[in-house]
Amino acid sequence: MSAARRKSAAKPRRARSTGALLPAAARSLMAAAVQARATSHSPYSRFAVGAALLTESGAIFHGCNVENASYGLTCCAERTAVFKAVSEGERRFVAIAVTAREGQGAPPCGACRQVMSEFAPDLLVYWRDARGRILHKSLSALLPDQFQFVKPTGRSR
Ligand code: THU
Repeated sequence: MSAARRKSAAKPRRARSTGALLPAAARSLMAAAVQARATSHSPYSRFAVGAALLTESGAIFHGCNVENASYGLTCCAERTAVFKAVSEGERRFVAIAVTAREGQGAPPCGACRQVMSEFAPDLLVYWRDARGRILHKSLSALLPDQFQFVKPTGRSR
């Protein structure tokens, strides 16, 4: 297993009634996002973000935002985590936790919502509000009617 990847002891535990992670599991995924934030490369915005992506097998992939002197090339923490997971052969995602600095809410941006929906339209998304409370919503609620590519038939225009 690569160093970038950490197996948790057990498969993710979810509440039978709602499908959400059990509170302890949500807190521990958020703790992994806090840890991921520590490696953020964000000298331009000074806005460090961390993400932790939980897969069905119980693996957690960390991601941080990676900025660039050419600002538009920046990659958000959530997309870093998703790309790391996919490039390691994991595509079945259960939940993601995202965090900025304490006291700053950080729900995922629209670009990351679209990227996550490619693999897990019903992903559970956890973030913290300005008071530090952990909130969550399904990705399908955060991004209804996501773009879907329909392969053109016949002439291409
Ligand atoms: N950022 C993320 O990492 N995730 C988001 O969902 C939104 C924004 C990063 C990008 C940039 O490095 C910094 O936050 C400020 O926009």
